[in-house]
Formats: sequence, structure tokens, C-alpha cells
Amino acid sequence: MPSHLLSIDALDRDAVDHLIRIAGRMEPIAQRRKVTRVLEGAVLGNLFFEASTRTRISFNAAFCRLGGSVCDTTGFTFSSMAKGESLYDTSRVMGGYVDAIVMRHPEQGSVAEFAEATRVPVINGGDGPGEHPSQALLDVYTITKEFARLGKPLAGAHLLLTGDLKYGRTVHSLIKLLSLFDPLRITLVSPPGLEMPQPLIDRVASRGHRIEIRPSLADDFSDVDVIYATRIQRERFTTEMTESFQELTADYVVDRGFLDRRCNASTFVMHPLPRDSRPGANDLSVDLNGDPRLAIFRQTDNGIPMRMAIFAHLLKVEEEIDRDLRDVRWYVPETFGVDDPAL
Ligand code: ASP
Ligand code: CP
Repeated sequence: MPSHLLSIDALDRDAVDHLIRIAGRMEPIAQRRKVTRVLEGAVLGNLFFEASTRTRISFNAAFCRLGGSVCDTTGFTFSSMAKGESLYDTSRVMGGYVDAIVMRHPEQGSVAEFAEATRVPVINGGDGPGEHPSQALLDVYTITKEFARLGKPLAGAHLLLTGDLKYGRTVHSLIKLLSLFDPLRITLVSPPGLEMPQPLIDRVASRGHRIEIRPSLADDFSDVDVIYATRIQRERFTTEMTESFQELTADYVVDRGFLDRRCNASTFVMHPLPRDSRPGANDLSVDLNGDPRLAIFRQTDNGIPMRMAIFAHLLKVEEEIDRDLRDVRWYVPETFGVDDPAL
């Protein structure tokens, strides 16, 4: 794996398997049973120029759980980019202050441009509609864990990706990452105008995966193993699209009724989050809360061990992790959420 994590393009299957293995070793720390200080003294710079809850906080928490500390800035207003500073200058300056940088920016390609000016590892926390590689890694980590829990093999699995496949950077990184695995069946469902870019479809199909496109969710999906739903990325719409976009109908909504009637008992549901829970948004339904088929919070929890694995690997301490583990001394609840299902 190269010294930055900018795109899934730079990863091969061995690198992905390696990160999944390290993430597994991070679990006792992520679950707050063990403490390590392997990154003691190291400082992370978090630069977020777009809204974020999960990516910013979980990278932050992951770095702290490895013993490091974090400096961050959010929004253009509070950085000197508001005074016209370039990505190049910002990158070089940050490189002199911190040991790793996570950056989220609204323009596709901006994080890669930023990374060109520093030798300090840079992680792309989302560049416009481009990519979100650490999300895809935690998604695949989640998929492998869920399949193991269900006692099912991943080879030949059927995945349904639905929602905004055009602007959703998580599905762009995810489909690239899935293409590195043994042949899968991938079905794509998106509202008109929000289809997966054709070059991505061609690339995955050329690697032996079976890609199918269906117009809506009003169909039989009883052989689907995983549903990956996504939010409509309205913030990326052009003015023309905002005016012409028809609100989502029930034919695109993943809810309990859809799962009960059209899927099978072990189909599980993922979503990168946030889900838009405002009335009329028709995003992933809250009526699945507490249902064990809803894997979204297991998925967010998995962000910590995977992001710890990414840091450990980029900063070359993965062999040190098991060495100085200690037991935690503080109170840790048995489950993190009040509705967490018993599995
Ligand atoms: N949080 C994810 C992202 O930043 C997905 C989303 O916002 O819908 O790409
Ligand atoms: N999944 C994700 O990237 O969430 P945030 O936008 O909250 O960081």
C-alpha cells in the first residue's frame, strides 16, 4: 500500500486482506476492553471542509485510541483557505505540524492534489463525488464480519446497491473495492438521473462480476444477501437537477415491509449514513431500528477498528499493537445503543 490512502485504485486484494486482518486485531481496543499507546506522541491533523459526523469523529477517536492526539479544523471559514491559501501551501504547512492528515473537501481530486505537496500520510475522507476509500474499507470489513456471523461464504454473494449511485462517493469506492473479490452478483437500483457512472460498471463487469440494473425496488429480491442503501446527495445537484428531480417514491424505499416481502430472512441492510430522517426524504426507514437485519450501527462501530488499522499501517506500527496492551479501567456499557439487537 502506498504512503497515502487517496483512492481504492491504489489497493490490491492483498492490501485489503492485510487491513482487514489488522482491523480484527484492533477489536479489543475499539470495543474498549484494551488500551494501547503505540502512537503516543503522534499528532493527527483533521481537515474537514464539508459536513461530517462519523468520518471526522471516528478518525479522531481511532487516533486517540492508538495513543495519539488530534488537531482539527472544520469548514473553510476557520481555515486560511478563506484568505485564498492554496492546497499546496496548506499541505506543506500541515506536513510540518502533524504526523498524518485526514482531509474532506467538496471538490473531486482535491485531496490527491493536496497530498502531492507532503510526504506525511494523507487519507481521503471524501472528495466531492469522487471517493471515500476508508468508508469502503469499513464497509467491506462489515460485509466479511456479517457473512462470517451468518455462516455464509462471500464468494458468489448477491449485493444490491441502491439510492444515489451517481454522486454517492461511498458506492464509487465500494464497487471498486468489491471488484477485487471473487466474482459477485451486484444489482444496481437508482432513481432516474442518479445512475452509477458507466466506466465504473464496465470496470467491475470486466473483472468477471455480474452486474444487473433494475428500475426500482418494486421487484423480487429474495436472493439478495446485502442491501447497501444510500442518501440522495442533493448538495451535489446542479440547479437544473434540483429543479427537475422528482421526490423519491415508495418504490425506492428500504423499510421493514420491503425486507419482509421482497427479501429473505438473512438479508442484511447497510448504509454509509447519515440517513435523511426528515419527512418525505424516503431514505432508509427508521421502522427497522432494533431489527437485527439492520447492520448500520454495527457498520459505524466497525469504522473504529478499520481506521485504527489504516493509521497503524500507514505509520508502520502494526507489529507493535499487541505488545503493550493493558486492560481498560473505566466503565464500559454492554451495548453502545439502547436498541442494539441481540445477535
Ligand atoms: N457520509 C457519506 C459521505 O460523506 C455518505 C453521505 O453523506 O450520504 O459520502
Ligand atoms: N459515512 C460518512 O462519511 O459519514 P459522515 O458524513 O458523517 O462523516
